[in-house]
This record gives sequence, structure tokens and C-alpha cells, in this order.
Amino acid sequence: MKDFFSSLCVCLFFCFGLLFNRVSSQTGPERAALPPRGWNSYDSFCWTISEKEFLDNAEIVAKRLNSKGYEYVVVDYLWYRKKVPGAYVDSLGFDVIDEWGRMVPDPVRWPSSQGGKGFTEVAKKVHDMGLKFGIHVMRGISTQAVNANTPILDVSKGGAYVESGRKWFASDIGIKSRSCAWMHNGFMSVNVNSGAGKAFLRSLYQQFADWGVDFVKHDCVFGDDLDLPEISFVSDVLKQLNRPILYSLSPGTSVTPAMAKAVSGLVNMYRITGDDWDTWNDIVSHFDVTRDFSTANMIGTTGLLGKSWPDLDMLPLGWLTDQGSNDGPHRRSNLNINEQRTQMTLWCMSKSPIMYGGDLRNIDDMTYSIITNPTLLEINSFSTNNMEFLKIAATTKVSKCREQIMKWHFRYLKPSVSPILSLTKCADSNAVGWITKTLDRGVEKICWKANPEHEYQTPLCLYKRGSRVAIDKEATTRHDQVELLSSRTSAVDVCLDATSKRKRSSEEFMRGSFFPCSRHENQKWDLYSNGTLGNHHSGHCAIVKTSQAKGSPTGVRSWIATGRGGEIYVAFFNLNDVKTVISAKISDLGEVVPGKKLDHSSCKCKEEWSGREFGVKSGSIGAAVESHGCAVFIINCSS
Ligand SMILES: *[C@@H]1O[C@H](CO)[C@@H](O)[C@H](O)[C@H]1NC(C)=O
Repeated sequence: MKDFFSSLCVCLFFCFGLLFNRVSSQTGPERAALPPRGWNSYDSFCWTISEKEFLDNAEIVAKRLNSKGYEYVVVDYLWYRKKVPGAYVDSLGFDVIDEWGRMVPDPVRWPSSQGGKGFTEVAKKVHDMGLKFGIHVMRGISTQAVNANTPILDVSKGGAYVESGRKWFASDIGIKSRSCAWMHNGFMSVNVNSGAGKAFLRSLYQQFADWGVDFVKHDCVFGDDLDLPEISFVSDVLKQLNRPILYSLSPGTSVTPAMAKAVSGLVNMYRITGDDWDTWNDIVSHFDVTRDFSTANMIGTTGLLGKSWPDLDMLPLGWLTDQGSNDGPHRRSNLNINEQRTQMTLWCMSKSPIMYGGDLRNIDDMTYSIITNPTLLEINSFSTNNMEFLKIAATTKVSKCREQIMKWHFRYLKPSVSPILSLTKCADSNAVGWITKTLDRGVEKICWKANPEHEYQTPLCLYKRGSRVAIDKEATTRHDQVELLSSRTSAVDVCLDATSKRKRSSEEFMRGSFFPCSRHENQKWDLYSNGTLGNHHSGHCAIVKTSQAKGSPTGVRSWIATGRGGEIYVAFFNLNDVKTVISAKISDLGEVVPGKKLDHSSCKCKEEWSGREFGVKSGSIGAAVESHGCAVFIINCSS
């Protein structure tokens, strides 16, 4: 009888506990009600950040940014890797794992983790600062755990996972053929159809909750690396945990709105591009994809126990490191002030999560003023009807009409968008277009077709080196196997290389993917008679993309949104290399305000960056926008 009562008590305790957990997590405040905002360590420390560096940054977030809505501080990848000679992003065997094959913070870089405490102390300090604590986690299980064949923890029982009368191990659940494309040696998917695979993932996320984690950035499960079963299962686990944890997916290489629709309800934010770094081309590449996600109504749609947000990636501003680097922050952002404003403005107009990437110990006043601009942060959090706006006019003839309202005239500009190299499947008909031309002294160049849509554009040409004839297995066709140089005359030969040497996967943009020639397979290209150019290592083919907008004046873009006080926000972006006057009619802006006819004579307008205020008697607004810069108008009209 005594036994019966005690087990009844245990059961009641346990069952009510479970019930309470479920209820408390599902009735808590809506998760990610606004686009999440915070700081992430990747752009400034790559993987090498230490506990002190992290907490120093967190303290600055608390002091200088928290009042502006910056809330999450996130440790990016490889916090479990020992920072010793030989360790780098895709090295194998340098990670600290526990007896259950789970990652443990490197105790040298994270001293407070010693004694099995994991991130408990760091999370506590972050919470005491009034902030929330986030970590990065890779897909599935580490190769190191699979090689060590660690047992799997059953968190519901507290011991090894047993099923069908036997203990289960890491090698039972790791799927070697599904390693992470951009971190081949590091991690692989787990079989979530097996009880043991589920138990392993549960043991990870339960531990994160026990540590006090509030945000998980789950990497190498989305975009080209899509692993929907793992995302779905992790989402379920997060739903059941007693701790609200925001769920973020990364990176978003080749993500389409259709793919995003499969995950948006399971997560709180998901990347829609590959990694963004501090180059102008990286910013430009976001305009089209961001527009596509707003058109598909994906901004702030239903997410995991709250909302979900398309994520344009961190802001690489201020004091940074380089992709894949083992060195900490050591250089300024390459973006000039106009480009930085453009990035912040696009990110805010499209309500992307804002995660600052620079080392805050070394933030300059200009960068600080951009990332804390009150109007942009208001737009980021509270605007609605965010979309690309096409009815704009542009002209580069600015000499006689500086900073004044423009006459209405369309003028198509000479495109100045640089070509972007990318990889696609070789069977894709879009991959056809490489033409060989023989130059003087036996030098051959291969050029991407001059695109008739962009008649002004110089075709992208590369130069052949080490050409040899290769014959296929059936000995029926032959093709040219070459390395490709970006220039005939540079001091050091640099070759087109299909590895990106950065945190992203093979099909992503390859801008700047030229590295010193190494005779590696990644630098060998097969030029087929059908005009495709295949990479020896990846098996994918190279294509050249441009980011031209259809239906809007070339080289300029505009976004529009409405404010919570009835104001209209309009941003003009100048992607051209020359100053451009961009303008729009007030009557056309009215179409984003359902049922509201705008009487322009009543409108007052302010341009944010210049602080200029003016009326709009002529019925249109305009500005001469610097190259790569933007103008942001706040328009108030009484109706
Ligand atoms: C071009 O040829 C290569 C090699 O034979 C083949 O793999 C590829 O699918 C072809 N692509 C197209 C678009 O015809």
C-alpha cells in the first residue's frame, strides 16, 4: 500500500509536471512577436571567441543597445572546439564532447564551463544583465562522436538509451552519407526515424534548456542542406520544453519561398541567403530575394509558438574578422557609410531580424548611430505592408537639379551591376553559355554569353590555364579540362575555385571565389561541348547571374511600408556607381494604404539621413541619392 501511494505521488508529480510544462510553454508570451534583435559573434570572432570576449560584448549590448531593442547575445559556431594549432573550421578531432557525444564548451576558452557546468554560468550572467542568451548548433551529430561511438543519453530515464533489449550508440544514428556540405568533417544528419536518433536530439535540447539557453541558431539544416525531418523534430522538442527558446535556421542558400513555407511554422526565423559579408555585392544580392519573400507574405507569418521572420543575416559593420579565420577582430568593415546605411535600411524596411556582427568593444560612433537609428528601428519593429515599390523614376543627370523635386521622366540607365558567379546543376539549361575564344599567342579565354537583356554589360571572361583533353568513361566524348584565371596579368595566378572557404554550401554565390592556384580538384573545370562548365570536385556547373530588377528603372530600387501612426515610409536605393535622382508620385504611394486616397497638398515629408523636412506641393518626392546610398522618407498626410 505504501508503495502504491508513493508511486501514485511520483506519478501525480510527474504528470502534473509534464502538464504544467506544456501549458506554461504554450500559453507564454508570443515568441518572436517582433523581428528578433541582438548581437552575434561570427562576423567579428569567426569561431574563436572566449568567455571574456563574449561577456565584454554582452555588457556593451546591455549598456548601449538593450534600450534600442537589442536583446539576444549569441555565441556562433564551434564553441566546443579547442583553439590549438591544427584546429580550424573543417578540422576533425579537436572538439570537446561529453560521454554522451554532446558538445561541451571548450574549457580553455570558456573557463566557467569547467566541472560539467556547460554554459550555465554564462547564461546566468547574461540574464543578470537583462539580456537573453543564444548558441549555435550544427546539424545532427558530430563525426567525432560517431567515431568515438558514444552511447546515447535517454533524458527521460537518465541513463543510456535502450531499445529492443540493447544499448544504442552514435554510429547507430549518424548518417555518414549526409555530412554537412560546408563542414564535411564536422557533422552529419541523424536518423530521426529511430528512437535513438530522437533521444539524442532530445538530450541536446534538454541540456540547452538546462543551461538557460534562450535562442538556438540551427545550422546546416536549411537551404541547400535542407533536413526537414530534423527541423520538424527539433521544433517539436522545443515546443515541449519548459523554457521558451527561439528557433533560428541558417544558412539560407538557394532558399525559395516554397521551401520556406515548409518550415516557417516550425521556427521563428530562417535565413534566406548565404552568408552576408561586408562587400557591396553581398548587399545587392539581397534585394531580389527579399522582395520575393515579401511578395509571398512571409514577413512575420505564423511561426513556432509565435511568429517567424525571413532573416537577411548579421550586419557586418564596425570591427570585424574574415570568413573562416582563426584570428579575432582585426579590421574595419569594407562598406562605406552609404553602403552601411543601405544595408541597415533594406534590413529594416523588410523587417529582417537585426543581429549586429561587429566587435562592440571597438564600435565607432558612425556605425553606432546607424544601428541605433530610431526611425529605422521603429520601421523594423512596427511597420506593416512592407514591400518593394516599383513606381519610381530615376535619372543620373543630377548636375542641374540637385536635391529638388524632379520632373516625372523615366530614363533607363546603363546597368552597372557586376556579374555574379554561381553554381547550378549541369543538366540545367541555364548552365549553357560558355564560349571559348582564342586570343594571341595561343591564349584562350572562355566567356559567359553576352546576355541580350543586358546589352551594355561586358561579358564575364576567364582565362584558360593547363588545358588538357579528358575523355569520358565510355570513350565517346572528349572535353577540355582547365583551370581558370581571373586575369592574364596578375602577379600571382589566382584560380576560380568552387570551394567557398566560407560558411556556406556549394551552390551559393561564388563572388570573389578566386584563390591562389593549387591544382586542387576544386579548381579543375570541365568545358563540355554543349557550352557548360562543370567543376571536377562538386559536379556542379558555373553560371553567371546578375541582379537586375524587372519592371523598375535599372540600378535603383525602392521599398515602402506603413507606420503605426498612419505615416508612410519610402526608401530609395541607388545601386548605381553614380549619383542618381530617384523620385515617386505621392498618388502612387497611396496604393499601399488600403482605402486611403492621399491628398498630397496636406502631406509633410522628412528625409531621415539628411534631416531635411519639406512639403510636397508638386505631388512627388525625390532625392539625389549618392552611389550605393539610400534616402528614407517619412511621409505624413492628413486624410
Ligand atoms: C552538358 O554536357 C554534360 C556532359 O556531357 C552533361 O552532364 C550536362 O547534363 C549537359 N547539360 C546540358 C544542359 O545539356
